[in-house]
Amino acid sequence: MNNLNEFTKRRKHIMQDMGKDSIAILPTAGEQVRNRDVLYPFRPDSNFLYLTGFWEPEAVLVLIPGRSHGEYILFCREKDENQEIWHGRRHGQEGVLQHYGVDDSFPITDIDEILPGLLENKTRVFYTMGIQTDFDQRLMGWVNQLKQKVRMGITAPGEFMALDHPLHEMRLFKSAYEIKMMKKAAGISCQAHKRLMSSCRTEMFEYQLEAEFIHECMYHGCRDSAYPSIVGGGENACILHYTENDALLNDGDLVLVDAGGEYQGYASDITRTFPVNGKFSPEQKALYEIVLEAQYAAIEMVYPGSHWNAPHAAAVKIITRGLIRLGLLKGRIDKLIRDEAYKAFYMHKTGHWLGLDVHDVGDYKVDGEWRILEAGMVVTIEPGIYTGDNRKIAKKWRNIGIRIEDDVRVTRTGHEVLTARAPKTIEEIEALMSKSSAEKKAVTKR
Ligand code: GLY
Ligand code: MN
Ligand code: MN
Repeated sequence: MNNLNEFTKRRKHIMQDMGKDSIAILPTAGEQVRNRDVLYPFRPDSNFLYLTGFWEPEAVLVLIPGRSHGEYILFCREKDENQEIWHGRRHGQEGVLQHYGVDDSFPITDIDEILPGLLENKTRVFYTMGIQTDFDQRLMGWVNQLKQKVRMGITAPGEFMALDHPLHEMRLFKSAYEIKMMKKAAGISCQAHKRLMSSCRTEMFEYQLEAEFIHECMYHGCRDSAYPSIVGGGENACILHYTENDALLNDGDLVLVDAGGEYQGYASDITRTFPVNGKFSPEQKALYEIVLEAQYAAIEMVYPGSHWNAPHAAAVKIITRGLIRLGLLKGRIDKLIRDEAYKAFYMHKTGHWLGLDVHDVGDYKVDGEWRILEAGMVVTIEPGIYTGDNRKIAKKWRNIGIRIEDDVRVTRTGHEVLTARAPKTIEEIEALMSKSSAEKKAVTKR
């Protein structure tokens, strides 16, 4: 990531919120062992990434508003010829001064000697406890060291505050640069959904669709997924966070694919549900049309001045009405909504904030009221119906899971669907799948 002004602006903004005599300390994520000496691919902590754009492990960001030697301090790994031959390049102290707009940089191995000095005479420390417990303890150790120096006229900080609230408020409103990154993640992921939809055939394994998705994403620069893909055929689609993805896809079943690529740290989050054999059955069609209508209605409720729960309320109404029409719920719509009877079929909410984290940060309620939507926010809209092995309904309706999920930006006048290019109407899906299957037959004949 390289957009220095953007990161400088973010740090300035947060330092204004922190005020004088304060210090903020943000370690990046730790590297995680996968097995023995193999590590999981490294992914920085999102708050750290938001303020630095720096993608190396073993780094700690320190912000000290008004510090004369520089407000932006980064502890990071030193350059090391031998380590770099084995494990890859490091920016080192000079590198981060040059490329990341850092004012002052120290080797991470010197943090025990240097950080207590930076904490001296500060009133407030902005730090989020409980994420990295090892680091929590080290910080307490540094503060305690200072407390022993009171007779030398040095004071230790007395107030500990989480940086989360002001930082998460900033992250909730996406800049033009962030929207550009999110559009890229969304565009590549739509293309990947199209690819897997076109390649779907009866008797494939779920993981083979996942492979098509990952191939397309990675090929176009989404080096990782924003979350583990969910590829559930038939009854597996009713398991909301199914990730085994190892079953055969059967003729006559639907398959639900919830998968999103990550681009430069920014997530996309898309779900499409389609028939394995390319043609919806009458029951699948009936349920799918309800979910699609609910999704359109929910998307319509995304505009500045609307509130967080308005899309969910719209989706619940249409899903409940549709289930009554099909005889899957019985009773009056108002009472069924009040009693939350729809939860037997639709047990999750209609979306979440989206950004550097797939379930992104930001409050959903303010002073006990649903948050008002404002331009710059990005939400997902993802209603669904999951009939499961429900013995109260006729057999033909059972074990069908459908979710349709798009990423939607609140604009100044309404909304923009970032993921519109992934097919979702029945006509679009059936046309794409029949085209690809005809093409495949033609190739086989030749
Ligand atoms: N993919 C996770 C979600 O849709 O919330
Ligand atoms: Mn989602
Ligand atoms: Mn999703």
